[in-house]
Amino acid sequence: MKIIIAEHYDELCKLSAVIIKEQIQAKKDAVLGLPTGSTPVGLYKQLISYYQAGEIDFSKVTTFNLDEYAGLSPSHPQSYNHFMHEQLFRHINMQSSHIHIPQGNNPQLEAECKVYEELIRQAGGIDVQILGIGANGHIGFNEPGSDFEDRTRVVKLSESTIQANARFFGGDPVLVPRLAVSMGIKTIMEFSKHIVLLASGEEKADAIQKMAEGPVTADVPASILQQHNHVTIIADQKAAQKLREASYS
Ligand code: GLP
Repeated sequence: MKIIIAEHYDELCKLSAVIIKEQIQAKKDAVLGLPTGSTPVGLYKQLISYYQAGEIDFSKVTTFNLDEYAGLSPSHPQSYNHFMHEQLFRHINMQSSHIHIPQGNNPQLEAECKVYEELIRQAGGIDVQILGIGANGHIGFNEPGSDFEDRTRVVKLSESTIQANARFFGGDPVLVPRLAVSMGIKTIMEFSKHIVLLASGEEKADAIQKMAEGPVTADVPASILQQHNHVTIIADQKAAQKLREASYS
């Protein structure tokens, strides 16, 4: 696990954007795994600037999003589908048929999960999977206690995640869906060739310390990344402040 400590959030965004740019320059039809949340917003802005400067061509790129709220239509303003189009896709030259996000309002949600898993397999896996991290150590919506063998499935959000994500729902936790579809930990671990986890801010410091330096345990889902052979953690100084090893770059 390579840990890079960025001086501040802007540097974190630039470092992660360069990884994606180089991946697409090396392989025009790269497959990317993408997260939502506040953390990747600056990365997406940087990717848009690269596109506008003619440095990245997204026309052959395929993307798979990590997760989506259950019950929200793709056009719902708080859906992750809407978020991704606003923050990234509508600004770049992705082909819409290459964009994959679980459809949270599919009445056959279990079937939706199986198809999603199969689509990632057929795409040949994910070249670069970007991840955020929850303050409780979750990745995607794989909450503490999730099984490391889980595939894409319907999940129940923890109370702390509902509270944390209420800010996107006008601050009202009652409006946050209780269920979501998420790539499973096995999906992420098996299909991702390179995992890049981003963390910014002191509220992530405990999760980053436990993920990188604690035991591999279902209580901290991100700790499983210690067992993947190509992981880059990019944390800003606030998120990295509780790491104990001195040797991180
Ligand atoms: C959500 C998403 C995760 C994301 C996490 C952290 O719960 N499902 O994929 O990593 O929040 O979000 P933020 O970057 O806003 O802290």
